[in-house]
Amino acid sequence: MNDIRNFNEYQKAYQLSLANPKKFWDEVALNFYWRKKWDETLQWDFIKPDVKWFLGGKLNITENCLDRHLDVLGDEPAIIWEPNHPDEPKRILSYNELYLQVCRFANVLKNQGVYKGDRVCIYMPMVPEVVIAMLACARIGAVHSVVFGGFSSTALRERIEDAQSNVVITSDGYYRGTKQIPMKQTVDEALKQVNIEQKVIVFRHTGQPVNMISGRDVWWHEAMQMASNECEAEEMDAEDMLFILYTSGSTGKPKGVVHTTGGYMVYTGYTFKQVFQYRSGEVFWCTADVGWITGHSYVVYGPLLNGATVLIFEGVPTWPDPSRLWQVIDKYKVNIFYTAPTAIRALMAEGDDWLKPYSLQSLRVIGSVGEPINQEAWEWFYHQVGKGKCPLVDTWWQTETGGIMISPIAGITPLKPTYASLPLPGIQPVILDADGKEITENEKEGLLCIKFPWPSMIRTTFGDHERCRKNYFAAFPGYYFTGDGARRDKDGFYRIIGRVDDVINVSGHRIGTAEVENAINEHENVVESAVVGYPHPIKGQGIMAFVICNHPPDDEAKTKKEIGEVVTQIIGPIARPDKIYIVEGLPKTRSGKIMRRILRKIAEGDISNFGDTSTLLEPEVVKKIIQAIKN
Ligand code: WTA
Repeated sequence: MNDIRNFNEYQKAYQLSLANPKKFWDEVALNFYWRKKWDETLQWDFIKPDVKWFLGGKLNITENCLDRHLDVLGDEPAIIWEPNHPDEPKRILSYNELYLQVCRFANVLKNQGVYKGDRVCIYMPMVPEVVIAMLACARIGAVHSVVFGGFSSTALRERIEDAQSNVVITSDGYYRGTKQIPMKQTVDEALKQVNIEQKVIVFRHTGQPVNMISGRDVWWHEAMQMASNECEAEEMDAEDMLFILYTSGSTGKPKGVVHTTGGYMVYTGYTFKQVFQYRSGEVFWCTADVGWITGHSYVVYGPLLNGATVLIFEGVPTWPDPSRLWQVIDKYKVNIFYTAPTAIRALMAEGDDWLKPYSLQSLRVIGSVGEPINQEAWEWFYHQVGKGKCPLVDTWWQTETGGIMISPIAGITPLKPTYASLPLPGIQPVILDADGKEITENEKEGLLCIKFPWPSMIRTTFGDHERCRKNYFAAFPGYYFTGDGARRDKDGFYRIIGRVDDVINVSGHRIGTAEVENAINEHENVVESAVVGYPHPIKGQGIMAFVICNHPPDDEAKTKKEIGEVVTQIIGPIARPDKIYIVEGLPKTRSGKIMRRILRKIAEGDISNFGDTSTLLEPEVVKKIIQAIKN
């Protein structure tokens, strides 16, 4: 597919994508199977915003992920599953097998009354069935909304309600190292307060007891037995919704990012092949959970669109010991390994001895995603894991972009540690100053925006288009605003600095500070709180909370623990603050706005210069906070 095989071809592709984007994307899109070709490649308006790709095109993405491969790849492995426990049996699903399961499960959904356009919530662990569930939705034109298994029942309920899903697919439970975690129970909890009629399909995984509610809950395996093997794919319009995925922003509740069928397929299929330079027969392992966009685009759709073999791992990198990932790489002769800096830093901290018994010779390409990768982690990953011979692709992108935007192309783009490097063909990044003027000089930090549409970009936020406009298209009219800061060097290489808004990136998980504050404020003794990120050696950023209490707590440690528990309960353990300080006041402006800038500086340990503090209502407050931390 218009493959990039050397740097010259990259430059040519990039130039063509600038000069004639429609021609460029037409050529890429023709590599896929369309029931009917599109009439028009692109219509766009970044003010409304209104972006449509491949207008009038008809397709089903699962025909591209499955049917199309069966003749040649039918017996080849599509999914290899490595369980949590290293001694439990692995599972391998060939393309034929996956196809069959998807068709059957699509019929299960139909039997449960799911129709094209309905939203289906998927709350599952990392087992092959989660992929089957997603593809079965896509097969019949239902919209999947996958919710990360680590989210609490409250977070799950909010997402079910917002998407108005009426089917939840879940599992009895799952394993994480030595822990067995209930899942169905969390669904039961969430559904207690949901007023939409529900069906729940439960996959039996751990075998732990669950409470099945008659008329509402069905077992996956029982429903599958009764379903037929054949399921004609629903014909979808290129702009029909494929999925909703909730992500955190700087304000309010998480928003449902909407991706549509045709553009998402073209872009994830294209970028998977190019960035990793995937060669047929290779085993690709992306460690992301399917609950995040990385899992959607590079565990499920991108690889399967290319007929790749994907490894799925249920466990954690440090159990039974910190060599688990290396063990798995050798066991399955993984060729491409794509993970997050937080995992790299955690394993780096365990020492190099854990790597020594493993050859890791099968590796050809390694990749990083989700947060900025610091130089030390980059070097360690490159030399210790990649043995200095595997290109390391530092891929920058977002839930909203659907696919990788700025990244080296493996083995082709020269590598520069900590630089996501160059935009992929079709991507037109710019760096703006605070007034929205394009910064053309090199080495100047600014706000990263994109000035031209690409096929897999966010179309709307579910049920609230205005929110999409405000969040991404209003700050700088005519541009998509990423929320990230960036800098470009003399070679045109981009370095991503990190979020410039009130979103923090904790272990590669995106968390809105406002969400955490809202959760903390639910504690009975909390009046107000402010949450900021601070540099954390493993997680990238940690969560620091400043909390004002109603009355001074008798037992501070207990109150802090309770606050942590409230956050776990309302959002999930990933959002639990690492540090909580009970303070008397927060730095506010005369108009009552919290000056987070000051808190961020304090959290970073930089108290030398707070910049302009003339609008601060009570300068004393700052000193007291610093004192509270010192204590
Ligand atoms: C950050 C994950 C630096 C960035 C795919 C972005 C990165 C946010 C990188 C999106 C990278 C992602 N270098 N920062 N290579 N990749 N980010 O939506 O701040 O979970 O805005 O998508 O992660 O997180 P999201």
